[in-house]
Amino acid sequence: MKERLRELEQEAIEKVTTANSLQALQDVRIEYLGKKGPITEVLRGMGKLSAEERPVIGALANEVRAAIQTNIEEKQDYLQQQALEAKLAEETIDVTLPGRPVKRGNAHPLTQIIEEIEDLFIGMGYTIAEGPEVETDRYNFEMLNLPKGHPARDMQDSFYISEETLLRTHTSPVQARTMEAHKGKGPVKIICPGKVYRRDADDATHSHQFTQIEGLVVDKDIRMTDLKGTLDVFAKRMFGEDRSIRLRPSFFPFTEPSVEMDISCKMCDGKGCSVCKGTGWIEILGAGMVHPNVLEMAGFDSNEYTGFAFGMGPERIAMLKYGIEDIRNFYGNDQRFLHQFHRPSEEGGR
Ligand code: DAH
Repeated sequence: MKERLRELEQEAIEKVTTANSLQALQDVRIEYLGKKGPITEVLRGMGKLSAEERPVIGALANEVRAAIQTNIEEKQDYLQQQALEAKLAEETIDVTLPGRPVKRGNAHPLTQIIEEIEDLFIGMGYTIAEGPEVETDRYNFEMLNLPKGHPARDMQDSFYISEETLLRTHTSPVQARTMEAHKGKGPVKIICPGKVYRRDADDATHSHQFTQIEGLVVDKDIRMTDLKGTLDVFAKRMFGEDRSIRLRPSFFPFTEPSVEMDISCKMCDGKGCSVCKGTGWIEILGAGMVHPNVLEMAGFDSNEYTGFAFGMGPERIAMLKYGIEDIRNFYGNDQRFLHQFHRPSEEGGR
């Protein structure tokens, strides 16, 4: 019986040595130490032994069992450690590998143009003003010298919400709101970018929703030459130092006199081409000296204060600057279009 036990110990230890997975090890444990295993069987047969032999065999059986047990545990630790190391090796992060490019978006071209214009005017001491897109008839028209029934209201087909409210047709109501808030005291020096709405059929040059930037300066001794100088700086900064401007007489109910500003055509350098329709000039914006009625209605003394104002369309400016032919490109959200306007700070994985 002693030999049988030693043999079993030998066998089990050999199997532990060759077991190379935790499952194989578990099988050895069940085979040798389980209830139906050979050692249990030996112990069961002890009844047949003499009284002297019994404690000796019993002790030996326990010793063998303990030896196998320890062996299995050591091997188990080893296999577990190995499995952990294999897992760690597999999951190693190579920090020197280049990262996967992250798709970066970029500011919408109109946002970029608006920011560029904002920066330019902030540099000249202007602040940014804003107003509501759902506007009252009073600010959108009346305070701008366009009383009810005024024929010039037809120039701006409107989306009315009720008799007295509409989607603003231009950013000019912010002029009236800002002047009113100043309670008759200058200086006022603002630009106002924002969305405007008109009941137009969409085509390559019209959109029922577009953007505008309004400018307004009110102070003592503001003259037409101040307007011209400001617009000249603006035109050169936006379109190049070699551009020149001209002012043509025009009409807006809220300015007197009113002008339209053209820049010399970059394509033909003023000689006349298809872009400028042979005139050598391209229309950019409307402007003028703030009408005394507008000053008075907003609470300014028109004998003391004068001002100039201008209004422009960032879409038109972007179209001219980048050669975009259809205004609808700005609103189609086509990534192929939008991604062409990455700024240097926005370069990177696209
Ligand atoms: N509000 C005008 C429009 O939408 C643009 C404009 C013209 C604004 C002359 C002005 C201005 O402030 O002085 O057509």
